Amino acid sequence: MIGLLTKFQPRWMSLTFRQPRTGATAAPKFGLSTAPPEPVIPSKKPLKVELVGGKRYSWCSCGHSRKQPFCDGSHKTRGQGMTPVRFVPEKDSTVWLCGCKHTNNPPYCDGTHKQDFIASAPLHEYTD
Ligand code: FES
Repeated sequence: MIGLLTKFQPRWMSLTFRQPRTGATAAPKFGLSTAPPEPVIPSKKPLKVELVGGKRYSWCSCGHSRKQPFCDGSHKTRGQGMTPVRFVPEKDSTVWLCGCKHTNNPPYCDGTHKQDFIASAPLHEYTD
């Protein structure tokens, strides 16, 4: 019987984490996540820029760039898991690029910055 239990025990085990005193179920202490990385918010408004047709641009998607709304390479150290959005406008144009980094139509502003979750969020502060 013991041999049988040992053989099948892994199937019957469930992983439950309990706090020692109360016995309440607790979350495990390790940090595995499948959630996508979140950008910081350098601006709560779009940025008006004049683009040159045929020129290649890189829009910052992590929010850490000091050259907003464009990439300065900061995602490599601060916005890991995020990459800039590269685009080439067909012709010279003036556009509004997203500054809050939460647009659903990158790199362009789609009005998402007007939503409460952006209005109530803190602005990113550059520390160095
Ligand atoms: S500035 Fe991000 S959606 Fe408008």
